[in-house]
Order: sequence, then C-alpha cells, then structure tokens
Amino acid sequence: MNQKNFGLDSLIATWDSDPANLSVNVEHLNHYYGEGEMRKQVLFDNCLKIRRGEIVIMTGPSGSGKTTLLTLIGTLRRVQEGSLKVIGQELNGISAANTTELRKQIGFIFQAHNLFESLTAFQNVKMSTELLGIGDAESRLSIETTLQRLGLGHRIHYKPKSLSGGQKQRVAIARGIIHEPKLILADEPTAALDAESGREVVTIFQELARNQDCTIIIVTHDNRILDVADRIVSMVDGNIRSNVLVQRNAMMCQVLNQFPIFRSMTPQAISQVADKMDMRRFSPNSEIIRQGEMGAEFFVIGKGEVDIEVDSKKINSLSEGAFFGEVSLIKQQPRNATVRARDEVVCFVLSKDEFQSVIDSSTPFEEELRKAIFSRQ
Ligand SMILES: Nc1ncnc2c1ncn2[C@@H]1O[C@H](COP(=O)(O)OP(=O)(O)OP(=O)(O)O)[C@@H](O)[C@H]1O
Ligand SMILES: [Mg+2]
Repeated sequence: MNQKNFGLDSLIATWDSDPANLSVNVEHLNHYYGEGEMRKQVLFDNCLKIRRGEIVIMTGPSGSGKTTLLTLIGTLRRVQEGSLKVIGQELNGISAANTTELRKQIGFIFQAHNLFESLTAFQNVKMSTELLGIGDAESRLSIETTLQRLGLGHRIHYKPKSLSGGQKQRVAIARGIIHEPKLILADEPTAALDAESGREVVTIFQELARNQDCTIIIVTHDNRILDVADRIVSMVDGNIRSNVLVQRNAMMCQVLNQFPIFRSMTPQAISQVADKMDMRRFSPNSEIIRQGEMGAEFFVIGKGEVDIEVDSKKINSLSEGAFFGEVSLIKQQPRNATVRARDEVVCFVLSKDEFQSVIDSSTPFEEELRKAIFSRQ
C-alpha cells in the first residue's frame, strides 16, 4: 500500500502532550468575582492545553470570561481554584518573586489606546524595558531594531497622535514583544484596525510564532483573522465549549483523503470525522484488539503494519490506510480476530459512538464499510 509520508509526523506531533512542550496547562480552573453575597462564579471548571509555538484564537460572546482567563494566564490576577501552569510554573500559590520572574517571559498586547500620549513611540516601548529592568544601551538598540522591523523606522520619535491606528497598534506590539517573551497575550489586538492593518498585525504574530517558537493567545471577535489560528477556543458562559485544533484537522483531512474508505465522502464529512479522531501508538508485537472482547473502537492505520490473528493463527496483515474493528461495532458482537502491531504502529481511532454517528451521517462511508465487510467474509 501507499508508503508516502503525508506530513504524518507533523500530524502525530499535534498529540504531543509532553509537559515540557506545553506552554499553558489549565486544569479545572474556576474563578469568582466579588465577596460574600456578591460572590459570582465567572469561570467554570476549565481545562486547556496549549503547546509551545501555537497560535490560539479565543472567541466567545461578551462576558463569557475570555479576558478573565487571559489575565489569569498572564499572572495579572491571582488563581483561586484549580491549576494553571504557565511555562512550567504553577500559578496557584505562586510567590511574588516568581511572578516577577515569570512576567519577564510574557508579553501583553492590548488595544492601542493603552499608549501614553505624551511619549513618543520609542519612549512608549522604553517604558516597558525599564519596568522589566533591561539595561539602557541594550534596550536602545533593540527598541530601534524592533520598531524598524515593524515598519516604524521613520516614526520612531512620533507621538501616538501623529500615528495611524495601525501604526499605534504596531507600537503596542513592539512594547509587548521587546523583551522576546515566550508567551504573548493579546486582547482584541485588531479591533480598532482596518482590514489591512489587522492583517499586518497577525502576520507579525505568525512570524513570532514561527521564528521564536513563541506561543500566542489572541482574544478576538474579528473573523477576518481566524485563518492564522492553529487552535480555536470558544468560550460560552465561563466555559470552554469547543477547542478545535484547526491545523490538526486540516492535516488529518489530508491524511484521510488518501485512504480509500474516506475517498467518496464529502470534504465536510471528512472534516467532521477528522475532528473526532484520536491518535494511538502501539509498540511492536502489542495487541491492539483481542478476539472475543466486545469492541469499543474503530481503527484506521496511519503508520506501520498489523497482523490479523484468528485462534492464534495469522490470517492476514494490513498496512497504512487499512481499517479494522468495524465488524464488532456494527454487529454488536465480540471481536472476531486479534489485531497485533507488527512494528511501531500509529492508529487513528473513533470511539463506538463517534463511529456510529459517522455511519449515520455519511452514506458513502457506510457503503464502503459494508463492501469491505462483505469482501472479508
Ligand atoms: N473586575 C470584575 N469584577 C466583577 N465582575 C467582573 C470583573 N471583570 C469581569 N467581570 C464579570 O465577569 C464575567 C466575564 O468577564 P470578562 O471580562 O472575562 O468577559 P469577556 O469574555 O472578556 O467579555 P468581552 O468580550 O466583553 O471583553 C462578566 O460577567 C463580567 O461582568
Ligand atoms: Mg474581554
């Protein structure tokens, strides 16, 4: 079968949950405003893992808790309940000294009107380096380079009132990135900008993510910039309702498109399947499913080869793009064979319920399955 590597390694890497590669790890986070009778819960049991270098767009209705979550991540608010780790540091119970250290690695970008009107572009950025305790000579050089890089070389000594909306926002960005933070938090960074300036801003974010492995979280209502996101998180009523790895979904669709069983499905249907798929690795010789057990999952082989064994005798083998596990799910019977990884195997997996929902919604998928089951009997 097809031995091409479809960017499969990049796809598999999106499941990497090694804590060392996590930039933000939110676990069961609650938050309340007010005291006593007035105490009101605004964040409810939120969990979110963001890997280093990801660009995350956070959306949701006004009042849904986006800024609250962003300011908690940025150490601008104290964590009350749950766990929140930022660049490996737990924020629940963090000391003041550690907070100061951590803030040096975080860049904040809010709307341009946060600039000081009486200070020039250069001085506005310089304020930030002074607060972080970066040396004078050192900071002069990097401020100029950063402003130049952002296309403001000829506006270094202008005050905000002589700058356009887009230029002001770029000064705000310069201020947020001057110290080369590992994490950038931006709240509505393009809200006040026209389409072109908004695009410039997100292009700068993309370069930072790509070139400096910087993680960027952008809160926005601006649909025009959704395409830069690796992940889109939507909040409703203090809760993360959906958390979609857009980039993973796109790669997964590409991979699934190469596999015969998905070929006749519509792109939309494939995308829905892609969204539901989980990834599982198996070491050589391990059992993936066992004959006689009730099936709970459907498998598509992404990488490697498996042996099919009936009554401990090998009857067949399957490789990339092949699938197994469907018979038991469709017929509600125990597994009719054992499937064993021959080498390092990576499978994409649908749970029983998700598998059923795909069958219900896609006739081509169901037809392909029935054909396959028939031919295997
Ligand atoms: N300092 C505060 N004191 C009391 N309640 C607050 C405070 N800040 C926010 N809230 C409340 O917490 C909830 C979440 O607010 P938050 O600012 O996080 O929402 P948001 O999603 O950022 O909204 P928007 O899109 O309008 O910026 C809202 O009900 C808001 O009224
Ligand atoms: Mg807000």
